[in-house]
Amino acid sequence: MPNPIPVILDCDPGHDDALAITLALARPELDVLGITTVGGNSGLANTTYNALRILALLGRPDIPVAAGSDHPLTRKLETAPEVHGESGLDGADLPEPISEARPEHAVEFLRATLSAATEPVTLIPTGPLTNIGLLLRTYPELTARIGHICLMGGAMRAGNWTPAAEFNIWVDPEAARIVFNCGVPVTMIGLDVTHQALMGLPEVDRLRALGTRPGTVFADLLHFFTRFHLERYGSADTPIHDAVAVAHVAIPGLVRTERYHVDVECTGEITRGRTVVDDRGQPGLAPNVDVALGIDRDAFSELMIAAVASFA
Ligand code: RIB
Ligand code: CA
Repeated sequence: MPNPIPVILDCDPGHDDALAITLALARPELDVLGITTVGGNSGLANTTYNALRILALLGRPDIPVAAGSDHPLTRKLETAPEVHGESGLDGADLPEPISEARPEHAVEFLRATLSAATEPVTLIPTGPLTNIGLLLRTYPELTARIGHICLMGGAMRAGNWTPAAEFNIWVDPEAARIVFNCGVPVTMIGLDVTHQALMGLPEVDRLRALGTRPGTVFADLLHFFTRFHLERYGSADTPIHDAVAVAHVAIPGLVRTERYHVDVECTGEITRGRTVVDDRGQPGLAPNVDVALGIDRDAFSELMIAAVASFA
């Protein structure tokens, strides 16, 4: 097996972020150097606390966690309690943390870790891109130390927070524009593919049947997460958005992508946060992003069940 890929997760746990963290720690193809947190699904204190609780649940207090930005680059933070609950990770009996976040800001942790790495690092952002935008704006020379940015966000067609925009990009479109235009290889894991990466009530039952604490906790978390989707979309089949970004890095070929030009609308009144994807080869718009379009639902859900099952 080739050497594991060094990765850093930047996230806003968040139910699907929690599954993304679990998948990343379960896969031998990845070497998780650390987790940075950002305000998004909930405030920064909650997303950081939730990341630490997930690591306690998985028995991985050794993974460094650094808290980052509590608000977007130029806007106030808007959170999603209606989706993830007031805590950002409602619905389960999670353990208390057994580790603490590092004292330094996430951007400083990212700078130091990228600088010390013996090979380029893959960043896997699954929340608003504020931390990554700040890193790239503050230390543009570090793009040489980043091998790939595989981010969950955006969409070719409709949004999920507004008719035009997906939540992560909508929260901080200015940061997203920095990331999409930074010159590092970027993969956009958008709603086009994540709404094929579904887990629902059968998977809740399969997780609970594992008979382990992680299995029970993720059965409860997934059941809570399905509630919003059942009310909003009429189906309990729930997109596990963030885990698709991790799966794409760990398992090449699982996700189908096409290379298009992507930029971010930052000033539109009703189009703020839209990822404008050119799939028609407009002259003068060189493709800059690999846009994820397809995944096998069954292969994905089996991957997720196996990941949770790998923790006692
Ligand atoms: O639109 C889905 C994204 O927004 C996911 O990352 C979810 O966790 C929320 O952050
Ligand atoms: Ca997220």
